[in-house]
Amino acid sequence: MNNAFARASGRPATRSRPRTALVSAVVGLALVATGVAVASSASAATTLGASAAEKGRYFGTAVAAHKLSDSTYVGILNREFNSVTPENEMKIDATEPQQGQFNFTNADRIVNHAISRGMSVRGHTLAWHSQQPGWMQNMSGTTLRNAMLNHVTRVATYYRGKIHSWDVVNEAFADGSSGARRDSNLQRTGNDWIEAAFRAARAADPGAKLCYNDYNTDDWTHAKTQAVYRMVQDFKQRGVPIDCVGLQSHFNPNSPYPSNYRTTLSSFAALGVDVQITELDIEGSGTQQANTYRNVVTDCLAVPRCTGITVWGIRDSDSWRSGGTPLLFDNSGNKKQAYNSTLEALNAGGTTPPPTTAPPPPTTAPPPTTAPPTTPPPGGAGCTASVSLNQWNEGFVATVRVNAGSSRLNGWSVSIALPGGSTVTNTWSAQASGSSGNVTFRNASYNGTVDPGTSTEFGFQGTGTGPSATPTCTAN
Ligand code: G3I
Repeated sequence: MNNAFARASGRPATRSRPRTALVSAVVGLALVATGVAVASSASAATTLGASAAEKGRYFGTAVAAHKLSDSTYVGILNREFNSVTPENEMKIDATEPQQGQFNFTNADRIVNHAISRGMSVRGHTLAWHSQQPGWMQNMSGTTLRNAMLNHVTRVATYYRGKIHSWDVVNEAFADGSSGARRDSNLQRTGNDWIEAAFRAARAADPGAKLCYNDYNTDDWTHAKTQAVYRMVQDFKQRGVPIDCVGLQSHFNPNSPYPSNYRTTLSSFAALGVDVQITELDIEGSGTQQANTYRNVVTDCLAVPRCTGITVWGIRDSDSWRSGGTPLLFDNSGNKKQAYNSTLEALNAGGTTPPPTTAPPPPTTAPPPTTAPPTTPPPGGAGCTASVSLNQWNEGFVATVRVNAGSSRLNGWSVSIALPGGSTVTNTWSAQASGSSGNVTFRNASYNGTVDPGTSTEFGFQGTGTGPSATPTCTAN
């Protein structure tokens, strides 16, 4: 075990937490909803992450650890994005180069960079036929199955509390019209290897969303898309723990953006999982490229459970397909036309992701306590807050939903009483005052504005026992 576990972070602005227990629901609070506040209108966000956050979503990028010393790269990263995915650093060959010997150095550089700046982290990827270290490539059967499950467990445990979503299994289906699983050493350990990986990941990090991630699953009519759909449907029916589907969405002339993309997003979402666009890049240039980016973003925003978009790199020169100039910034870091259309599409708005999925009844914890109804403030203005808690022996992750009443919030604060001996070790999407006793969390720069009837989230991790008392929300 590593003490790094105790420090955590970047959970999402909008995650449903299917296995967390709802600990308390809360409270309206009287408020100072001024006429000025009601009359003011939000100005358009000027960065991708801020705009996505206003819609309860994230906008992320793949990050390479060795580029964190490139000031142009880091400047854009820190300015524009509120989520990161390590491009190669969490893959099996990077994290377990020798069997049983784990190396998190480069992945930690990215995770720490992200968490210290309030960004969430997508983990990529725990089980994959590709980029296996040599020792694993040569394995088969039960030996391989156990090695894979050990890898999933060790890596997900190491990063427990720090990962918003894990790509638990990557690219397990074949291309073409067969709709079959891809042949691989992992597949040859038995068809249930995917669900075994998901169960291991859930046990290791109950708070992370668990995703199946693949490419060429964007066109609803394709056999591969349908095959993944049937697997997710089957998992949901049988209670295999899966929370999200990642559509990589690498678009190019041979694999173009499909006109039924929104149907694909909404069809997966209808199975009861989130959908994330996980590796977006669109080859091309100029207006054609800008329009396609606009379409992708607009489609995602139209589907409430499309909760985030990640582009696969920052500048064209950072892309695995740099020759196709598929990204939002040119080689010098200048914003491209595609950047402008992406930001415009984000600012144009969209649906709000649904509130936290109703959790199953707790099996061990006492039943959720619902705060007694309080008298709503005049006109139903003000805000309420509720806490979802993921508790383990030595610590907890709390996700706090802040709900606006009938007036727009222009800043909020939430006061939460921690039990004696408990300490807040990390906070995301809010600023904490204090770390023990009564802790007050104020909105971050990008989530203070909450439209009437909508909500936003922040989170914190701590040692000891999480809060059970009713939080108090105050609108500024
Ligand atoms: O770092 C070494 C360098 O030291 C060496 O000299 C060089 C020689 O080939 O290789 C370098 O490593 C390369 C690494 O990228 C870092 O640049 C690997 O060869 C190369 O295979 C690796 O490619 C990555 C690829 O996955 C491997 O499958 C790409 O960066 C990465 O963008 C790409 O990402 C994948 C997703 O994980 C899954 N979906 C598809 C996506 C695009 O292929």
